[in-house]
Amino acid sequence: MNSIDQLLGIRNRVAMVVGAASGYGRQSAITLAQCGAQVALIDCNEAGLRQTQSMIIAGTPDSNTEIFITDISLVDNCDRLVADVHRHFGQIDILVHTAAVLQTRLPDEVDENHWNTTLDVNLRSQFFISRGVAKIMREAGWGRIINFISTAGLSGGLPSSIIYGISKSGAIAMTKNLARQNGRFGVLVNALSPATLDTPLFRRGMDDEELKELKRQHLQINTYGRWTHPEEVAAAVLFLSSQMSSTVTGHVLRADSGAELSGF
Ligand SMILES: NC(=O)c1ccc[n+]([C@@H]2O[C@H](COP(=O)([O-])OP(=O)(O)OC[C@H]3O[C@@H](n4cnc5c(N)ncnc54)[C@H](O)[C@@H]3O)[C@@H](O)[C@H]2O)c1
Repeated sequence: MNSIDQLLGIRNRVAMVVGAASGYGRQSAITLAQCGAQVALIDCNEAGLRQTQSMIIAGTPDSNTEIFITDISLVDNCDRLVADVHRHFGQIDILVHTAAVLQTRLPDEVDENHWNTTLDVNLRSQFFISRGVAKIMREAGWGRIINFISTAGLSGGLPSSIIYGISKSGAIAMTKNLARQNGRFGVLVNALSPATLDTPLFRRGMDDEELKELKRQHLQINTYGRWTHPEEVAAAVLFLSSQMSSTVTGHVLRADSGAELSGF
């Protein structure tokens, strides 16, 4: 083991990446595999998962990955997923939960279905999967749980993303509560607020013109004046997944390239 491996403490750990078919989940899985983690690739998008797995194999041929296709909006699926990953790998050390949906609706247009879809995927799955892995990690005496949130969870979000903002604020409360309960067992729980990235979630069904305008606005007010590369956010995921973050728990890490400052 070289000194970088010792510093990270990632090699041969088992990481569950939920939302691994796209965007930040895909890049988190690639980065963790590059650093020697075994990775459970989880999503409801099978084609995307297979593409992520191929990308990992291309860059890290000796990696150990397995695909788990599931819809995490259902609690039973969340519980089954944790059991399946545990059975397959024999341990779960790291959870990176990035899967989410962003559907925009003004408060007066929100109905029960919209509320449930957003909260079930974004928040409820983060709770049930975090709770499930925390139990396994406590017994092992080591664990890292990282739930993706958004600036909308910190600022409340735009009027049309009120339910998305609520789901992400809830994840912050959950992170702090679980961090308090699990710290003495070596299990650290943090939230990560990433930078803006052009992904299916960011596009949220916009047509080409709307998308072009949103991207123009983004660059105009962006603190860095440029787009963030997914690898930059995955580096923050790596830190929180690693031994290096041993003093960090119950924290919201803004790996957002200043997005909160610019109000985007
Ligand atoms: N992209 C951004 O600009 C941005 C900004 C702030 C926060 N975030 C947060 O970062 C995280 C990742 O976002 P992204 O942009 O990489 O998204 P993305 O759209 O690229 O990927 C989201 C993944 O979640 C999966 N998913 C959705 N519903 C699911 C379900 N019911 N069951 C299983 N999988 C499901 C999708 O199939 C997809 O692969 C999210 O939590 C998001 O809220 C993103």
